[in-house]
Amino acid sequence: MTGDEAYAGARSFYRLEAAVREIYGFRYMVPTHQGRGAEHLLSRILIRPGTVIPGNMYFTTTRAHQELQGGTFADVVIDEAHDPQSLHPFKGNVDLVKLLTVIEQARPKNIPYVCVALTVNLAGGQPVSMANLRDTRALLNEYGIAMWCDATRAVENAFFIQEREPGYAGKSIREILREEMSHFDGCTMSAKKDCLVNIGGFLAMNDESILQKAREQVVIFEGMPTYGGLAGRDMEAMAQGMVEMVDDAYIAHRVHQVRYLGTQLAGAGIPIVQPVGGHAVFLDARRFLPHLDQDEYPAQSLAAELYVDSGVRAMERGVVSSGRDPATGLNHHPSLELVRLTIPRRVYTDRHMDVVAESVINLFARREEIRGLRMTYEPPALRFFNARFEPLPVRVKVRR
Ligand SMILES: Cc1ncc(COP(=O)(O)O)c(C=O)c1O
Repeated sequence: MTGDEAYAGARSFYRLEAAVREIYGFRYMVPTHQGRGAEHLLSRILIRPGTVIPGNMYFTTTRAHQELQGGTFADVVIDEAHDPQSLHPFKGNVDLVKLLTVIEQARPKNIPYVCVALTVNLAGGQPVSMANLRDTRALLNEYGIAMWCDATRAVENAFFIQEREPGYAGKSIREILREEMSHFDGCTMSAKKDCLVNIGGFLAMNDESILQKAREQVVIFEGMPTYGGLAGRDMEAMAQGMVEMVDDAYIAHRVHQVRYLGTQLAGAGIPIVQPVGGHAVFLDARRFLPHLDQDEYPAQSLAAELYVDSGVRAMERGVVSSGRDPATGLNHHPSLELVRLTIPRRVYTDRHMDVVAESVINLFARREEIRGLRMTYEPPALRFFNARFEPLPVRVKVRR
């Protein structure tokens, strides 16, 4: 209600800028309409055709923007991230040996930056440890390579550090978040997550020359540098969200609600990604529907069945989301074939979680009836958003 809607120089922008400085610790920022807006700007500013961008597992929109600028993503996450049953406490960690190999093969001058996501969405909302951030930064310093953060869920990441990493139990979420960010040159942000808003994002950095380029780009694609596609009230809400998101009790409650759902499902024998991450419970569709081939889209099929059963809208994170290799045109076949049950912050009660669990458990009881799908329309980019499917015919068992 207190948003300032002035076209240029709105007070709400300066409040947001001050909140980013105070809470994330970056000197400069430009707002964007959401996370992919910030990814677009960063990719245009830093990526040249033929360059390589290492990251701790791909994220759909992040990789799409890297590829649109002619870059190639290289996965440097530890192997445990690809194993849904590994109980590693920091499955989002960067594998320094893999990173070093990419640096040596591609040569440092062809690596504009390394992108580290806190937490790793597609691995199951898995965190990165502070020790790993420190070590990754130290390695990159040797080669003069920048390190950028996808900070979409950095607050949830801070919670896991506080809970699991020696030496951090006595530190506040606010302090841990600042320490996480201190290792980076800047960040992209989808504020719809940690920052508790309906829409919004930003690109933040310490380097003034990157700020200048971001201001040049933001006016072409998003809006004036003091609103970046957002209404004043959205910026005001984002600034307020930043104050509330670092409340220790709130973030503990948020992660525990996700865990509450995960514990119910695991207790009923449902195959899920372990340990349960910060924002979602991920069903392991390979083990849920072992009778389906990956090219029959088991995770997409399971998400559709869940929607029909209970109206719960989940998200495929498997072969459909992974898309095609732009060089060969062939489908990626990721080892993780998952359905993501993402829980919005401060929306549901635990009783809603009970309804979700009941529906998943129902489906598991009749899992053998669930058929695969065929894709009837495939868009050229980010196909999971707009693709259409139809069920495959029932397989008839032949008696001999
Ligand atoms: C880790 C991560 N990065 C980037 C994005 C893209 O952000 P947006 O959806 O706001 O464009 C998302 C969205 O889900 C995300 O989870």
